[in-house]
Amino acid sequence: MILKRSVKPSKRRAVSKATIRGLPPITLPNPRFTRGRSIYAALKNRKTVRSIGKKKISMQMLSNLLWAAGGVNRKKGPFGVRGRTAASASNSQEIDLYVALAEGVYIYEASSHKLISVLGGDLRALAIGPGQGNSGAKAPVRLIYIVNIDKFRMAGFQEPGLYNPEIQKSYYYVDTGLIAENVYLFAASQGLATWFHNCNRAALAKKLNLRSGQRALFGQTVGYPNDE
Ligand SMILES: Cc1cc2nc3c(=O)[nH]c(=O)nc-3n(C[C@H](O)[C@H](O)[C@H](O)COP(=O)(O)O)c2cc1C
Repeated sequence: MILKRSVKPSKRRAVSKATIRGLPPITLPNPRFTRGRSIYAALKNRKTVRSIGKKKISMQMLSNLLWAAGGVNRKKGPFGVRGRTAASASNSQEIDLYVALAEGVYIYEASSHKLISVLGGDLRALAIGPGQGNSGAKAPVRLIYIVNIDKFRMAGFQEPGLYNPEIQKSYYYVDTGLIAENVYLFAASQGLATWFHNCNRAALAKKLNLRSGQRALFGQTVGYPNDE
């Protein structure tokens, strides 16, 4: 994969400490949708494919994938913040999409459409649950769904239910599923293979230095179907 990296230091943000341990940010090309099956054909072809090869996906494909998963699709969304391709409870956008590549783990920052480094090194093996075998082990991309529960508390998100842990849980699992289905449909439309699965929650929490309000929930492998 050819990486187009920004040389400018990343702006200060919540992940800045982790960024120091990681790699420069990656500026993704603008999403471009010139090819792909119709939504009907994508729905018809949507399925879990566990046999995924090591063939890399291009930067443009990665950009399109992440935008489809949860990119910004309108400047003005509900509650005075941007709108995203996936709905979320009270538009709280509490699911962060971490992207595990061979060279390191990044957070997809939808507002700038960039990948912000979290950690260098290959953590793709932790983005799948223990005991799931070697299928897709060399796939180029493993997404990790990480909830940031603190985002339910942000000003503007006043739904009383959001402060109940059980309700919160139901919301963040639904919101994860909505992103995951975007990925499934995008993959089906582009001839990619994808597989939504568990992840090694404890190991990821440790390696990624997750705060108490953050939890690793699931992983999703993406690449090309393994025809070998
Ligand atoms: C919440 C959830 C958790 C899943 N976890 C796993 C998993 O840990 N391992 C796995 O192989 N597949 C997992 N899957 C994939 C399902 O087994 C798969 O979607 C289901 O068998 C239907 O197949 P289809 O996606 O091809 O229609 C999970 C799916 C969901 C929605």
